[in-house]
Amino acid sequence: MTREFLPAGTAGIIEACSTASLAGLAADAMVLFLAEEGVATGVAASLDSSMGGLLGRLATAGELTGRRYELVPLLAPPGLAVGQLLVVGLGQLAELDAGVLHRAAATAARQLAGRPRSRVAFLADPSWNTPLTEQAVAGGAVGMVGQDLYRAEPKRTRFAITQWIGADAAAVARGSLIGEGVNLARRLVNSSPDHLYPESFAEEAAAIAGRAGLEIEIWDEDRLRRERCDALLAVARGSVRSPRLVLLRYRGRPRSSGDHPDLAFVGKGVTFDSGGLSLKPSESMMGMKMDMSGGASVLGAIATIAALQLPVDVVAGIGLVENMTGPAAYKLGDVITARNGTTIEIHNTDAEGRVVLADVLDVVRGLQPRRMVDLATLTGACMVALGQDVAGLFANDQACCEALAAAARSVGEPVWQMPMYPDYGEQIKSDVADIKNVGDGRWGGAITAAKFLERFVGDIPWTHVDIAGPAYAEKPRPWTDGGGTGSMVRPLVELARSFA
Ligand code: BES
Ligand code: MN
Ligand code: ZN
Repeated sequence: MTREFLPAGTAGIIEACSTASLAGLAADAMVLFLAEEGVATGVAASLDSSMGGLLGRLATAGELTGRRYELVPLLAPPGLAVGQLLVVGLGQLAELDAGVLHRAAATAARQLAGRPRSRVAFLADPSWNTPLTEQAVAGGAVGMVGQDLYRAEPKRTRFAITQWIGADAAAVARGSLIGEGVNLARRLVNSSPDHLYPESFAEEAAAIAGRAGLEIEIWDEDRLRRERCDALLAVARGSVRSPRLVLLRYRGRPRSSGDHPDLAFVGKGVTFDSGGLSLKPSESMMGMKMDMSGGASVLGAIATIAALQLPVDVVAGIGLVENMTGPAAYKLGDVITARNGTTIEIHNTDAEGRVVLADVLDVVRGLQPRRMVDLATLTGACMVALGQDVAGLFANDQACCEALAAAARSVGEPVWQMPMYPDYGEQIKSDVADIKNVGDGRWGGAITAAKFLERFVGDIPWTHVDIAGPAYAEKPRPWTDGGGTGSMVRPLVELARSFA
């Protein structure tokens, strides 16, 4: 059983399909996944015989190599009833995993979505297991969507109908929901910051919660004040946009004694990060509409978990503010009392994410979840350490961290754990307050930020994920036009499944 969380008809139809003959299958385009081992086995072999051995001859001639993400379009292919056969490379079979298949499907979909298509048929291979099929289908859904939200002539158009030939119908339904969860996060990240600000993000969350069957609470400024969320409120003071805290709950199992969530997600939702009075230079400020990516991914993940009706109890908290320089902006030297009583001396208003999360982590901690994961585009330092594609993991509990790392690797999103030695914590001590919001100098900046967050999670097993690099693709890749990536949506869904 599944439940949609997007308005009907907006995502195109994605369905499983069985067919007696590939030769008779009518579609604008057909997609064949081809490994370097060639066309001798699986669905490639049946298709090759329908085509009178053409694929085999092209492979022998070196025109079709099956190298990873290679795209070879064969127009008006002989023996088939499709306009084109698009062959996408998978690399070597021994190295095929859900991540590679996800990106290969997205690569093919992205190419075909370059113009409108009424029907595209992807050929699932009989050798794929359920997780492979799900992630392939999700990749197909993600690849046909670009970042061109505001273009009169969009670069990508969703297929009216996507068919997965020979795939299990339930796996296709789940894969398409997972893809839409990723696309939801991407759309929010790609939205202009003048359209997506704390209040409008909260409204989006409410609309999605309504469709997905999630409970939602939205804390406005008054409520935040009553709840003593003075750290979050301090960051928000520089903006005319009023802040929000969104709390979502999905109850996938009967209420039990104590009623503690199995899992809690926390997301950084800075809808624009100018740096505040510690103003960013223009080049660094460009792109800071993406500073709400953690919040977007948390929302995409919990909506997908609800749509999949997983038997888990999940809560999500998203801290929404705009970091600006208005007359009431928080200042260097200000001392703020966070909700948990910790006093924070502000040394740099551009280290705002941790200040916002201080209060959101404390609110969610109060619900006593069994484990807690936060997603945040927290530090440039994490990109210096790990590059643009790998998320940093920081934890107070090794089992919690390893479960998340395993979930991420199972869907092909690279993560790497960083150390949390107590000595890093010395760096955030302040002379006038309990802590300050930056370390001494910039070395180890991703870790001193994580040590700051650790002060607000109490004894809940917790993992912080710094997605400053992977949340946003500066340049296009074979599988994406660039822009928001929906980083960590798929891992969070898998994590919830592993607890189900
Ligand atoms: N949102 C930024 C981090 C960021 C940088 C995300 C680049 C994505 C791409 C964060 O709020 C920030 O400005 N961090 C500062 C911290 C510093 C002032 C201690 C940074 O990384 O420079
Ligand atoms: Mn900042
Ligand atoms: Zn930020």
